[in-house]
Amino acid sequence: MAADILVTGATGKLGRVLMEELRERGLAARGMSRSAPGMVRADLVSGEGLAAALGGVGLVIHAATDGRRDVVAARRLLSALGADQRLLYVSIVGVDRVPLPYYRQKLAVEGLVRDRGGSIFRATQFHDLIFMIARGLARLPVVPYPAFDFQPVDTRDVARRLGAVAAALGSGAAPV
Ligand SMILES: NC(=O)c1ccc[n+]([C@@H]2O[C@H](COP(=O)([O-])OP(=O)(O)OC[C@H]3O[C@@H](n4cnc5c(N)ncnc54)[C@H](OP(=O)(O)O)[C@@H]3O)[C@@H](O)[C@H]2O)c1
Repeated sequence: MAADILVTGATGKLGRVLMEELRERGLAARGMSRSAPGMVRADLVSGEGLAAALGGVGLVIHAATDGRRDVVAARRLLSALGADQRLLYVSIVGVDRVPLPYYRQKLAVEGLVRDRGGSIFRATQFHDLIFMIARGLARLPVVPYPAFDFQPVDTRDVARRLGAVAAALGSGAAPV
């Protein structure tokens, strides 16, 4: 496998922490963004910059999302990916069971990734998301109790595990 790892969504809540984790592990990682300085510029929806962004990359950790066009973005990414380039897709626990429109999108992307021989990494909701939902609900005069169960996770824990998987994919060993 070529040495470099490309992280899509590197400016996001998970991506930022993941970039630090990969660097701490001594892995050669670059982040992709549509506009952030110091990152590889590419747009997964338009496809602009994508081919150049993938040059010399052995593993793509796909953590980008815009919540609406993730299937289009995934198709673009998959069609630009070379046969020897690996893909690790960050998804969400329960996408196969909870019929939210966003989850349906993620499930569709999982299918595309699997068909291409890529790997799926599912995480539960990040603490920030649960906090944002709770803060929004707290503005109401009566706070509804959401009828779903969740077990949120710290993005640092997700990044640590993803880092271990990425390192193992590079060395051919099983992640521990
Ligand atoms: N949030 C949660 O609770 C949670 C839980 C489990 C799994 N996940 C999954 O984890 C992943 C990361 O989530 P997050 O919450 O960290 O995301 P986020 O903070 O919303 O960040 C989204 C990222 O996607 C990038 N992006 C959006 N559209 C793009 C496009 N057209 N081309 C290239 N990049 C684009 C953005 O980069 P620029 O704006 O810099 O271009 C940004 O870095 C997602 O797949 C999400 O479904 C999230």
